[in-house]
Amino acid sequence: MVSDTEPTLEVRNLRTHFFTKAGVVKAVDDVSFAVRPGKVMGLVGESGSGKTVTGFSILGLVDAPGRVVGGEIRYKGENIATATDDRMRRLRGREIAMIFQDPMMTLNPVLRVDTQMVEAIRAHHSVSHKEAWQQSRDALGRVGIPSPEERLRAYPHQFSGGMRQRVAIAIAMLNRPDLIVADEPTTALDVTIQGQILYEVQKLCEETGTALIWITHDLSVVAGLADEICVMYAGRVVEHGTVDEVLDQPAHPYTRGLIGSVPSRNRRGQPLTQIPGMTPSLLNLEPGCPFKTRCPDADAVCEAEPAITHPAAGRDVRCHHPVTAGAPLEVTA
Ligand SMILES: Nc1ncnc2c1ncn2[C@@H]1O[C@H](COP(=O)(O)OP(=O)(O)OP(=O)(O)O)[C@@H](O)[C@H]1O
Ligand SMILES: [Mg+2]
Repeated sequence: MVSDTEPTLEVRNLRTHFFTKAGVVKAVDDVSFAVRPGKVMGLVGESGSGKTVTGFSILGLVDAPGRVVGGEIRYKGENIATATDDRMRRLRGREIAMIFQDPMMTLNPVLRVDTQMVEAIRAHHSVSHKEAWQQSRDALGRVGIPSPEERLRAYPHQFSGGMRQRVAIAIAMLNRPDLIVADEPTTALDVTIQGQILYEVQKLCEETGTALIWITHDLSVVAGLADEICVMYAGRVVEHGTVDEVLDQPAHPYTRGLIGSVPSRNRRGQPLTQIPGMTPSLLNLEPGCPFKTRCPDADAVCEAEPAITHPAAGRDVRCHHPVTAGAPLEVTA
């Protein structure tokens, strides 16, 4: 069931395009989803599907030649797609935080970790240095860094890759933001550590009511921990629903392809399938369904862009030939 609490973030028909010399790259082209307090939204898709640009759009970090050209990004009701730079700067770090794939996007290499953490707290809250230091120590402890008192005195390069990412995550969570966008922060780490970090972040978000968007190209990373999943393809959300719905009854051929390419215990002995072909270039994308050239079910109908259908409440599928478990789909624009 999709919860009916007010969403922390609601993205509606977001379009972010890059106006390059070669033409317009429609990196995000009609993306809609909502995340509620304490919930995890997994944003999944192959390389180039528009996941990072979606995250950057939410944080107001899209630079020229890119621009949000349409839609709304409602954070607690306020449309931040049109917010000033000043407003976005105040929101970032205090209410909305991003965890990047590379922790050095967050960390300053020439400053000790305690200096960075204490500054991050005191930039937004009037607390004493000692209090901020104690909060920093507790934050490192919460993300599983052993001997946090000692580690606070270290510089970023004195941490291993995994530990450095934990520090960046601790910094993102320092001011108990209401929304975190995590962009593949664990991809460089081994699978056990990835799962462990995602579990820790999810637990913290549940405790603090933080809404979390976890971006990944790997469905198996979010399978166990996200509440809902948006599958992105060619700048669009092609399928959305609760994790159970999407994994148990994938309706879009692309989602089925993604699931078929993940090793699974219950399909042991069966060969893994791979989606043939590559993601299309988002520069001058052909009309029609962008998945048609790779889709086993494509036919003449797919020459037209598919509308979003709703096989159930809170479920979205953008396909002319979705796999349905029951009644025919009701089409809404
Ligand atoms: N500065 C830019 N100028 C032009 N095109 C861009 C720019 N940044 C991103 N794009 C294009 O936007 C599209 C979406 O990119 P994005 O980085 O969001 O993909 P992604 O899903 O995060 O992929 P990955 O899994 O590789 O991180 C790509 O086609 C990319 O080439
Ligand atoms: Mg990316």
